Amino acid sequence: MLNCDTLIRDAMVLDGSGNDARILDVAVREGRIVGIGASLRCNAAEVIEADSLCLAPGFIDVHTHDDTSVIETPTMLPKISQGVTTVIVGNCGISASPVRLKADPPDPMNLLGKREYFRYPTFAHYVSALAEARPSVNVAALIGHTALRNSHMDRLDRTAKDEEIQSMRRELAEALSAGALGLSSGLAYSSAIAASTGEVLALADALNGANAVYVTHMRTETDAILDAMDEAFRIGRSSQSPVIISHLKCAGIANWGRSGEVLHALEEARTTQLIGCDCYPYAAGSSTLDLKQVDPRVKIEITWSIAYPEAAGRTLAEVAAGWNLSQLEAAKRLQPAGAIYHSIDEHDMRRILAHPATMIGSDGLPWDQHPHPRLWGAFPRVLGRYCRDEKLFSLPHAIHKMTAMPARRFGLAERGAITENYWADLVLFDANTIQDTATFADPIRSAQGIERVWVNGALSYTAQGLTGNRAGRFLRRSATVWLQ
Ligand code: ZN
Ligand code: CU
Repeated sequence: MLNCDTLIRDAMVLDGSGNDARILDVAVREGRIVGIGASLRCNAAEVIEADSLCLAPGFIDVHTHDDTSVIETPTMLPKISQGVTTVIVGNCGISASPVRLKADPPDPMNLLGKREYFRYPTFAHYVSALAEARPSVNVAALIGHTALRNSHMDRLDRTAKDEEIQSMRRELAEALSAGALGLSSGLAYSSAIAASTGEVLALADALNGANAVYVTHMRTETDAILDAMDEAFRIGRSSQSPVIISHLKCAGIANWGRSGEVLHALEEARTTQLIGCDCYPYAAGSSTLDLKQVDPRVKIEITWSIAYPEAAGRTLAEVAAGWNLSQLEAAKRLQPAGAIYHSIDEHDMRRILAHPATMIGSDGLPWDQHPHPRLWGAFPRVLGRYCRDEKLFSLPHAIHKMTAMPARRFGLAERGAITENYWADLVLFDANTIQDTATFADPIRSAQGIERVWVNGALSYTAQGLTGNRAGRFLRRSATVWLQ
């Protein structure tokens, strides 16, 4: 008879493939799935009666800014409480490593926390800090273009010179050989917008033959979004790498209703190259407070402000009225600061979320004082609100978007599926009750309906809270097995 540490009996197993659920038993030993079947005969140290709750591969949050929080706050409650067992850090051009700061982190690197949190001059330093911190979730990492620029350039408002590109490229190649997943960019931000396409092309050349990915917060998500998509696709073609468009959306009121056009361009490009995207399930974005995005027609909420911490949680309109200033003037006075922008159309967001190219990424900002609720709610919201209640997609397909699809696209071997010999990253949840509870008004709240979460076979979270086990690991890139 099979020996195992944990036997999960009679679970409604959603294996990550997108196929229908089946009632099965799943056995786990030494961190891996060792048996799957109906009425498994197994000598188990612990038996969990799943009673037809759903068992899925642990969710993979493909778009995070958890670079420093996995080390500073390794319990990672905002993520593990959603059933997330792996986070991909280093998105939007900003990563905590390799970074050598000469001053406070520039916008938007400050989204990753204060200066003291940047202690990783090389990617190897970051990997060993992870091993020491033992976060509760697995971590895989992209290398940020803006982070490289900040280490190799004296100023960020210009394109890099050839020798600077070469030194960035060497450092990227070194990180790739140490297991980084690929390169991310954040070309819309003032710290990278001056970078020419040629600079990114030359840097991304390091991805050639490395089986790595190019992930981009595009140069714009407003009027010229199609041009920005073309730029991203061109970089993918020249580096012969898959492209992942971050938080795909049509931002700004003037662009509402354009999701059909944008997805059509994506589909067309997907006939000739590997392209995917991620999306968070909210009609509002969040980042640093950007003066270019201040629009009195758009509701803007302040998430933090160094100069006026008491503004966090209030709207920019209220703050401006209190000061008798325009919203733009008030925004200047609040700097440096962060904000939520209700500048996305719900219909566009749903259409993108439901698209077969789309993975789920929270884009949560862990250091914000009054964060966007996506930090605590993104995954349960997809499963509760958008799958169960609004029937945007089937449950097996929703699970696929958050498990096997990202694991294969990012090259996370033996993850993202309930398959024998795969690592036992698992989440047991109640499909009837799963729900995000974090709101814009009250954003720091654990979701409901997540019953148990295992990471590498260790029970790490239950509906009662953290168990104290922290079994996450650094995940190195392996070959991508792209699912288009
Ligand atoms: Zn971004
Ligand atoms: Cu982001």
